[in-house]
Amino acid sequence: MSLESIKYAPGRLEILDQLLLPVQSKYLEVKGVEDGWKVINKMQVRGAPAIAIVGCLSLAVEIFGENFETKKSLRQEIEGKLNYLVSARPTAVNMKIAADELIGLANELTKDENVTTEAMKTRFLKATEDMLQKDIADNKAIGTYGAKAILERFTKEAPVRVLTHCNTGSLATAGYGTALGVVRKLHELKLLEHVYCTETRPYNQGARLTAYELVHEKLPATLVLDSMVAALLRAKHIAAVVVGADRVAANGDTANKIGTYQIAVVAKHHDVPFYVAAPLTSIDLQIPSGDHIIIEERPDREMTHVGEHRIAAPGINCWNPAFDVTPASLITGIITEIGVLTPQHLKEVISAM
Ligand code: MRU
Repeated sequence: MSLESIKYAPGRLEILDQLLLPVQSKYLEVKGVEDGWKVINKMQVRGAPAIAIVGCLSLAVEIFGENFETKKSLRQEIEGKLNYLVSARPTAVNMKIAADELIGLANELTKDENVTTEAMKTRFLKATEDMLQKDIADNKAIGTYGAKAILERFTKEAPVRVLTHCNTGSLATAGYGTALGVVRKLHELKLLEHVYCTETRPYNQGARLTAYELVHEKLPATLVLDSMVAALLRAKHIAAVVVGADRVAANGDTANKIGTYQIAVVAKHHDVPFYVAAPLTSIDLQIPSGDHIIIEERPDREMTHVGEHRIAAPGINCWNPAFDVTPASLITGIITEIGVLTPQHLKEVISAM
């Protein structure tokens, strides 16, 4: 069974504390928006889809027990708190897109004279709860399209070796995963020879979280350090690189975990296809290119320490951007729940939906 990063029942939300993994597997209750903002900001929950789901559900549990006198007061609460949650981490766009959609729904219901305040609250709770199932369904579709795209480049169907970066699995989503969903699907088809995952310094999502998921699910997997990718692509006949995304701009430029860009450069050099696996909720058609993506910078301590242990010389300056932007020209395809899109056709296809 895959890991469950988010446990939800009406009025109660728990997350698997990802700061403690892989040493301890402990759930943490998220009692409302303030807790939601903190667990996202501290990265106790992380990964673009999981951030959006936990953010929205933290509001759902908060308003579950509250009584609102008017629809206007409920609408104000929804808008104010969702916008606050967007500020917890700036790069991933999923929370912003979810917030805009839910605020749109709240506005619509406020105007509809046939809807009571209680009915509006019920509809809002249902919309947030639906995100969990939708995310899993989208990930499964991504897995299927991605596995097909990787395999169809070969004339003879045979198990493949792939490389992934950061953590895009059950821990980063409601379940199954995006890029890791593609890997999972290859495994289900018995066509995964091996998956390599990078350590993903400085926060080690690869070594701590992806490796944990891969071991948990008994996939044939090997951990490599970030600095080994060029050597790996040269030595191990990797069929494809598949990574996730925090925000894809309209031209296909993609922000993802720091280190993704250099992997894409190395993949191009070795003629290895480079795929980004992301739900449509990670695609931001409002920005024309990656130059407009705000890159979150995280505390120096993530670089200078491992846990309580200092590994960098005291006094050294640090630069710690959490993400980088891979130019569209290095991306073979963007695997979404509606199919694999080329960066060039992304805007046209999605706008026509
Ligand atoms: O800083 P993180 O751990 O939230 O970064 C996560 C990533 O970069 C993932 O690749 C991305 O969010 C996609 S998760 C399905």
